[in-house]
Amino acid sequence: MHIVTAGTTAVLALASLSHSVHAESDATNSQNLTLRFFQDSQEDSCSYTNTTSALAFTTSSIPLINHCFNFEELFGGNSSTGFVNQSRNLAPGYSVNGDVGIHWALQNRDSYDSSANYSSILYRQHVVNSGSEKYKPGQFGDRRVVIYPGEDCSEKDDSKEKGLSPWYGFGCWSESEGDCGSMPYKIASFNIQPALEEKDEKGKCWVFAERGAAVHFHSSSHVVVGAMFSVALAMWLAL
Ligand SMILES: *[C@@H]1O[C@H](CO)[C@@H](O)[C@H](O)[C@H]1NC(C)=O
Ligand SMILES: *[C@@H]1O[C@H](CO)[C@@H](O)[C@H](O)[C@H]1NC(C)=O
Ligand SMILES: *[C@@H]1O[C@H](CO)[C@@H](O)[C@H](O)[C@H]1NC(C)=O
Ligand SMILES: *[C@@H]1O[C@H](CO)[C@@H](O)[C@H](O)[C@H]1NC(C)=O
Ligand SMILES: *[C@@H]1O[C@H](CO)[C@@H](O)[C@H](O)[C@H]1NC(C)=O
Repeated sequence: MHIVTAGTTAVLALASLSHSVHAESDATNSQNLTLRFFQDSQEDSCSYTNTTSALAFTTSSIPLINHCFNFEELFGGNSSTGFVNQSRNLAPGYSVNGDVGIHWALQNRDSYDSSANYSSILYRQHVVNSGSEKYKPGQFGDRRVVIYPGEDCSEKDDSKEKGLSPWYGFGCWSESEGDCGSMPYKIASFNIQPALEEKDEKGKCWVFAERGAAVHFHSSSHVVVGAMFSVALAMWLAL
């Protein structure tokens, strides 16, 4: 679905960067995004404080463009930290202070069981003591996270013979204890994305939003975003 041409890619990437830089300088330092993964549902006991021993992914970076991480490759790999270098995605002639991309870190990797079914998640993207309304839970955050049932951020469920399963998105600043969700599948990959540009921030951001081809449009109670976002996302995914 290549609806964005190479020419507009640079423009989009640049636009996103200006937003990122803006967001970063505004917030009280760069905020960590933390994703913790569980085999059991956390929805009744969603607690960042009480789950420090869980398998986790952290980043303080705001990506320039989307990046998909394969779950097994990441946690089953031999590294606890890494950097996804996105500097080549900068528009020509542009430079920025600092690295462009995603510095990531894993926690409790020794607990990883590749045969286990990690189907639940705690998402935390929280600004502590934010004075501004802009950084309160429920407002658009600096990055978005989308969870997939298939490798390489595919909606094709790896554990099913055929058919697609929904993807699940988070994109708001979270509660201090995080926001939790359970997928009806083993998580195979997740995408870390820059925030929408402010001009595209219509409607509500995602709090465990259930979307994708498998979800009938507007049929789910989880759906909290408008049509505009599907369009914006489609453009990002095409990059
Ligand atoms: C953010 O994450 C990094 C890397 O995991 C960690 O070293 C740092 O302490 C975290 N910062 C906060 C404020 O939690
Ligand atoms: C964390 O665990 C403690 C002790 O079990 C409990 O009192 C507290 O309510 C829990 N916090 C959350 C947010 O669930
Ligand atoms: C880590 O894994 C990568 C990819 O599988 C491999 O190329 C690299 O040599 C490994 N490094 C170490 C220190 O084992
Ligand atoms: C990212 O890639 C660019 C261009 O290839 C390189 O100049 C830069 O040093 C890399 N940054 C990091 C942190 O590896
Ligand atoms: C993984 O767990 C989820 C949630 O309990 C379940 O719906 C799904 O069928 C499980 N998948 C596998 C491959 O066991």
